[in-house]
Amino acid sequence: MSNSAEIKINGKTYELPVIEGSEGEVAIDIGKFRSQSGVITIDPGFKNTGSTKSAITFLDGEKGILRYRGYTIEELAEKSSFLEVSYLIIYGELPDQKTLEHFKNEISHHTLVHEDIKKILDGFPSAAHPMGVLSSLVTSLTAFYPESLDPNRSSDEVDLSIIRLLAKLPTFAAWAFKNEMGHPVMYPDNKLDYTANFLKMMFGLPVEDYEVDPVVAKALDQLLILHADHEQNCSTATVRVVGSSHASLYASISAGVCALWGPLHGGANQAVIEMLEQIQADGGDTAKWMAKAKDKNDPFRLMGFGHRVYKNFDPRAKIIKKAADDVLAKLGVNDPILDIAKGLEEEALRDPYFVERKLYPNVDFYSGIIYRALGIPTEMFTVMFALGRLPGWIAQWKEMRENGEPIGRPRQVYVGSNERNYVSMDNR
Ligand code: ACO
Repeated sequence: MSNSAEIKINGKTYELPVIEGSEGEVAIDIGKFRSQSGVITIDPGFKNTGSTKSAITFLDGEKGILRYRGYTIEELAEKSSFLEVSYLIIYGELPDQKTLEHFKNEISHHTLVHEDIKKILDGFPSAAHPMGVLSSLVTSLTAFYPESLDPNRSSDEVDLSIIRLLAKLPTFAAWAFKNEMGHPVMYPDNKLDYTANFLKMMFGLPVEDYEVDPVVAKALDQLLILHADHEQNCSTATVRVVGSSHASLYASISAGVCALWGPLHGGANQAVIEMLEQIQADGGDTAKWMAKAKDKNDPFRLMGFGHRVYKNFDPRAKIIKKAADDVLAKLGVNDPILDIAKGLEEEALRDPYFVERKLYPNVDFYSGIIYRALGIPTEMFTVMFALGRLPGWIAQWKEMRENGEPIGRPRQVYVGSNERNYVSMDNR
């Protein structure tokens, strides 16, 4: 591979360095191009722009490969647990037994949140979307741990913030749901493991016993693993950019939660179920909705289809599809929405519009279905995604800080008015 590239502009040739990643990905480094030529590059939506060198996640959208720190998503989903994967993603290596036990122990001893956070929660109307509540509660940690604002803290202090986030996010998420229901919050139960504790805080009530279904807890743990990182997606890029200004870890993660919320990103899992319900209420005519999705004058898109990076298949969707079948069978769930989903999927996979544009079901198409089968309410789906993505956001923030990356600040091509004189009110 050549180690330089040439760009010719206005009759002058500029030589630019070429870098290669460990999986053979090649990039032209344009960092100094403007200072040499006065010219910038433009790429709305960053469709072909790398923002960083990262050692966390590798994905190949053409081949449908996803690996965290070199381990395939298939192997991790089958053999690992969410907290083990979290450790791997954040610290770079699989933990040994002692390290993992210590990590888990630390997390279960920080699950409780400051009582005053309940007052903040009480201020939200029950109609508040839980993603907005989650983001606000994460930001509120900056107030309870003001020392976290210091960008030059020791790695031990940063590690404590990381543990607090991993420990408290399930508490915040479950409490956001309780607020919506108008129910009293449930305190964490540190005897339970990560997902079981979350499920108890979500579905348990102080007035009766709640037994966590191990099938549900296991399926949820696997779902969290599948969402744990996905390199430079919209929310992760947001976390890195916010963190690049030396905003605190909590502020950066809170921004990531907001970026994830949108229906084109993590919010798609909620949008998928709403779409399926809409199709069902409309009589279940999938052909009609397929036609709407293809009509360029109609804003409707088939939610859960298409991906910026995966153009062949989404490896996470493959695992989730199987998990969804297993869980539905084990729990004996018979959901008419599922038939509509299967119908849409079959039609889309053979429809030339979708085939030509390489639009395949993405992770959110099936995750919505499985969350529904697990009894998770629709507006909590994106919150579940946030719980899963947390270790990825943390690892990416940590890597960005440890690499001493500069502040994220894109340029633009200005296309507005040229300089003009102010026009007084009388002459307008
Ligand atoms: N339904 C119908 N048409 C679609 C869809 C869809 N879901 N997705 C893309 N297209 C069409 C576009 O209209 C465009 O057609 P054109 O070439 O004729 O103009 C073409 O496919 C390419 O689409 P883009 O929007 O340019 O692709 P981009 O990479 O910018 O967007 C995205 C990717 C946002 C995921 C898009 O496919 C989409 O909106 N999907 C639905 C929402 C969704 O499921 N999001 C979750 C993504 S996974 C995640 O974030 C975890």
